[in-house]
Amino acid sequence: MRITVDDELKTLVVEDAGVRSEIELYSDRAFEILSRWSLNIGWSRKYSYGFSWMGRPIIQLPDDLIRIQEVIWSVRPTVIVETGIAHGGSLIFYASLFEAMGAGSVVGVDIEIRPHNRDAIEAHPLSRRIALIEGSSTDAATLAAVRARLKLNDRVLVILDSDHSRRHVAAELEAYAPMVSPGSYIVATDGIMRDLVGAPGIPAAWDQDNPSVAAEAFAAARDDFVLEIPPRGFAETNLAALTYWPSAYLRRVR
Ligand SMILES: C[S@@+](CC[C@H](N)C(=O)[O-])C[C@H]1O[C@@H](n2cnc3c(N)ncnc32)[C@H](O)[C@@H]1O
Repeated sequence: MRITVDDELKTLVVEDAGVRSEIELYSDRAFEILSRWSLNIGWSRKYSYGFSWMGRPIIQLPDDLIRIQEVIWSVRPTVIVETGIAHGGSLIFYASLFEAMGAGSVVGVDIEIRPHNRDAIEAHPLSRRIALIEGSSTDAATLAAVRARLKLNDRVLVILDSDHSRRHVAAELEAYAPMVSPGSYIVATDGIMRDLVGAPGIPAAWDQDNPSVAAEAFAAARDDFVLEIPPRGFAETNLAALTYWPSAYLRRVR
């Protein structure tokens, strides 16, 4: 594919498999095409490794954080379970929303919580809202430790951000789905992996081996969850959201 921006004619020219189309540069379609490339190149260049939240590195696309904030505000979970802690920035992000909302706690799971990350999370002013569990997210002992943190009337939202292989995400979906409250979501992050094939260093297998494929298969096999794009809090635009999390949000419908 060849894409040419013509700043004089204000067009985007796309040539693909012998087909040439000319698109108005200042159009939704041109924005979507250029944004897709921006997201893909940004992933390769570690764009999402350049942010922190209240002092802790957070490895996310900021657009996804605004979107999940909209979901949290509308679902009002009392507990967020997140697999994949890394430096703890996302745990602090969710805890800070709960702090502002006046209630809620976060359960973080990671196969390896490095001592300096644990120390920083435990020393953070929001640490009283956070519980850390070390272990593989699908191990029986880990799952028992997570369940032990949940109370009968909790409204639970789950975010999967650990090992992004299709197999692991599929296993996480099976294991964590029963914890999700009706009306809430389980979110399989980073499905953008499948759109990255062809970029330098990206395995061809990511075409199928990614969280979106796992989420789509899960939704197809179940009638208690639907894959959806959550309603926006504000949308005076027709532009699709920029996201690293396509086909990610599974809502429990019963
Ligand atoms: C992408 S990072 C998480 C980023 C974090 N949520 C944030 O927003 O900053 C992925 C994390 O998943 C963890 N991980 C990998 N395999 C895992 C597994 N089987 N169970 C639990 N955590 C795992 C890694 O140790 C790593 O810290």
